[in-house]
Amino acid sequence: MIAGLERTGRGAYRSESPEATYELGQLLGGILAPGDTLVLTGDLGAGKTQLTKGVAAGMGVDGPVTSPTFNIQAIHEGSDMPLYHFDLYRLDDPGQLGDAGLWDVLGGDGPCLIEWGEQFADELGDKRLDVFVTRLDDEVAAGTEPPREVRLEPHGARATSIAIALDRAFEMRR
Ligand SMILES: Nc1ncnc2c1ncn2[C@@H]1O[C@H](COP(=O)(O)OP(=O)(O)OP(=O)(O)O)[C@@H](O)[C@H]1O
Ligand SMILES: [Mg+2]
Repeated sequence: MIAGLERTGRGAYRSESPEATYELGQLLGGILAPGDTLVLTGDLGAGKTQLTKGVAAGMGVDGPVTSPTFNIQAIHEGSDMPLYHFDLYRLDDPGQLGDAGLWDVLGGDGPCLIEWGEQFADELGDKRLDVFVTRLDDEVAAGTEPPREVRLEPHGARATSIAIALDRAFEMRR
């Protein structure tokens, strides 16, 4: 168990390090199922990709997970299912989502983790788990790396059960 990861409320965590965010991602990765949609929201450098690296590890992905900012989509083979990782930062029109390959895999045979997806919330639908990653800059001196808050906001029954399962997995972790 990595130090520096705390649960601060229902579906809310505080991470003191990249490793702690990774560990939270690993727990989350152990819960995800085909068809799950997660929208990761936070500023540049907040830790969305760092969390995704942990999710990939938790799904048994073997191999590097990098930011798909330029390719927009990355597919990783996990031990039981693929992980679809998107970074929609460079898109600004819902019409581009098809070319990005989103409709081919959303709701499909693996979970979709979508960075910068909140701008397309209407298209992504109302069954999704929103994950907010926030730098807690106020808590440290300027120029120091701040801790992060990771907060889950579920929409729909499946997303709610993921959030509950993560809280439980966190309490049970060793
Ligand atoms: N507690 C923390 N949790 C996550 N990342 C952290 C933490 N502390 C420091 N970092 C660092 O912050 C950076 C987060 O980068 P990451 O690529 O995950 O951000 P991102 O939200 O995906 O940004 P982008 O919008 O550019 O894709 C990494 O360099 C990581 O090492
Ligand atoms: Mg990223």
